[in-house]
Amino acid sequence: MAELSKKIMVVYSSKTGLTEQYAAWIAEDLHAPLFKLEELNREELETCPIVVYGGGLYAGVIHGLHKLKKRLSKDIPVRRLIVFATGASPASPQQLQTTRNGNFSREEQAQIPFFYYQAGIHYERMKAGDRFLMRLFNGFQLIASLRKGRERKPAPKAISANLCDRADIAPLLEQVRRWKR
Ligand SMILES: Cc1cc2nc3c(=O)[nH]c(=O)nc-3n(C[C@H](O)[C@H](O)[C@H](O)COP(=O)(O)O)c2cc1C
Repeated sequence: MAELSKKIMVVYSSKTGLTEQYAAWIAEDLHAPLFKLEELNREELETCPIVVYGGGLYAGVIHGLHKLKKRLSKDIPVRRLIVFATGASPASPQQLQTTRNGNFSREEQAQIPFFYYQAGIHYERMKAGDRFLMRLFNGFQLIASLRKGRERKPAPKAISANLCDRADIAPLLEQVRRWKR
């Protein structure tokens, strides 16, 4: 039982590999198994009391989180869950709170530790639909700035940037270690 109570798994959903990078670092440092959300082993999930979940931010929504929450509430009602999200926006207290408010109920916010990492953007690995959405989003931003009478900025170039930094995960690892003690 003591062994079981220490069991942890890292689960992630990643479209362009940036969340996957963070999930792999976390799993390695915790000596925990790593699963893609879509390949999640139901038996493992049922016996695992601590789950770390990571997903990319898409229009403010943490990819895959809704699906995981549904699975967890069905499999085991009481569970310790930690969530992290990766995005292109800089990490700030405001970004953290906005993402938290948009993805968790008040009750969940009190129970689920949440971390945000600025991972960057990977245009080459994006599917056509996501690339189109990014162009649309950049277009809306341009229209909004013109309406506000701001100077016309040049259209942002589709440049990929990998800003993943292994040092970011330290507070999450510390949270897991506190739970394991
Ligand atoms: C369609 C689209 C929407 C996005 N929306 C956001 C967003 O709301 N906030 C943000 O910070 N980053 C946003 N991003 C950037 C991704 O969240 C970021 O690149 C993330 O690290 C991707 O993770 P993944 O490769 O693991 O899926 C968006 C990217 C795309 C393609």
